[in-house]
Amino acid sequence: MLHPSEVDLTVYPDECDAFGHLNQASFLSLFERARWEMLVRGPGIDVFTRAGAWPAVRKTVIDYHAAAFPGDVLRFHQALTHHGRTSFTMRQTARRTKDDVLIATAEFVFVCISREGRPIPVPAEFGDFMHARRASGGAQRLTVNGVSLAVEIRGDGPAILFVHGYPFDRTIWRDQIDALDGHRRIAPDLRGMGESDAPDLGYGMAIYADDLAALLDTLGVDEVVLCGLSMGGYVIFEFLRRWRSRVRGLILIDTRAEADGAEARRARDAAAATARESGAEAVAEAMLPKVLSAATLEHDPEAAERIRRIMAATPVAGMVGALAAMRDRHDSTGLLPTLAGLPTLVMVGEDDTVTPPDSARRMAAAIPGARLVVVPGAAHVPPVEQPAETTTAIREFLRIVG
Ligand code: MLT
Repeated sequence: MLHPSEVDLTVYPDECDAFGHLNQASFLSLFERARWEMLVRGPGIDVFTRAGAWPAVRKTVIDYHAAAFPGDVLRFHQALTHHGRTSFTMRQTARRTKDDVLIATAEFVFVCISREGRPIPVPAEFGDFMHARRASGGAQRLTVNGVSLAVEIRGDGPAILFVHGYPFDRTIWRDQIDALDGHRRIAPDLRGMGESDAPDLGYGMAIYADDLAALLDTLGVDEVVLCGLSMGGYVIFEFLRRWRSRVRGLILIDTRAEADGAEARRARDAAAATARESGAEAVAEAMLPKVLSAATLEHDPEAAERIRRIMAATPVAGMVGALAAMRDRHDSTGLLPTLAGLPTLVMVGEDDTVTPPDSARRMAAAIPGARLVVVPGAAHVPPVEQPAETTTAIREFLRIVG
C-alpha cells in the first residue's frame, strides 16, 4: 500500500497538447491534485481551514525531465523540505510507475495566511503529518525508488552526500555532519541498513545508486560532492557510471575499485549463511575486530560499542542483500583514469586490513590528480575511529572544491 505522501494519478487525453504530450501547464494542476489527494488520505482536506489558515503559493519551480502520455500513471511523491513558522516548502516528484522514469520535479513555497490575508503559523497538525515518518535523531523518512529511507539532512550550501559502508548506517558520519557547516550534509541509511526499509529482495550496486539519485531528485539537488566509505565507495562508482555530470567532487574512504575474486565471493556467501542462521549479532561479533584498529579496540570502548551496535542492528535481509550486491559488483579499475578533472580525495585508515592502504594507494595513483590521506590510529572506519582527523581532511578538500 502506498504511503499517504505518495499519490498515483492517470494522465488524461484532455491534459495533453497537440503532440499528445502531457502539457506543461497541466503539470501545475496535477501537482496540486496530488497535494490535495495526500491531505484527503492523511489529516483531511480541511487541515488548513480547521486552523483558520490558507496555504497561499508564493513561488513555483517546475523542472520537466521527460514526456508523459495519455494513460500513463504518474506517482507523485510529496516531501516537506523546509518548515518555517508561517511558511513551508514542498518538494514534489512525478515518476511514471511502469518504468520509474522521472517525469518532473517541482518545488512550491507556501505562506499560510488568515482570512484577512495576514501570515499565520503553519497548522501543527499538517507539520506533524508530514513529519510522521521521521526516523530517530531528527532524521527524515523519504520514499524514493519504492523504498522509505531514513535520511539525515543538515545545513545549507553546496551539497555533500555521505554514503556509509556495510553493515553500518548513516550515524557513522555523526561527527562530520555536526562539524561541516557551510554545506548541506545529506546522509541516508542505504536500503536494508539502519532505519531504512529492508525489503527481502532488490539489492545491487545499481539499485543503491538509483536510490541515491532519486533521493537527490527529491531534495532538489542537481550537483553534489560524494563521500563514500567502503561499500559506499562501490555504490559511488556505480553512481559515477550513470550520473558523472552531477558529481562535483569525490571522497573515497577505505574502499577499493577491484571487484571480488573467487575466494572473496565464496566468503560473501558464507557470511550471508551466517547472517541467516545466526543473526546480525553473530556477524557483528565476527566483524568487530576486523573493522577496528587495535588502538580503537583498546582505548576507545565507546567507539567500539557504537560500531558493534550499528552492525548488530542491521536487518538480516539488508545484510544478505548487501553481501550479494558486493559479491556481484563490477570491477571499477577501468573507471578510475576517466575521472580526470574530478577533484578527488582518497583516504584510508593506516591499519585497515579489509581495504588496505595498498589498494588506496593504487586507486589514488590511477585517478589523475587525486590526493591521498592515510589516517593513523584508524582501521576500516576512520570517521568513527579518528573523527577529528577525518573531518579536517574532508573540510580541507571541500575548501578546494568550493
Ligand atoms: C564495507 O565496510 O562496506 C565492507 O567491509 C566492504 C567489503 O566487505 O568489501
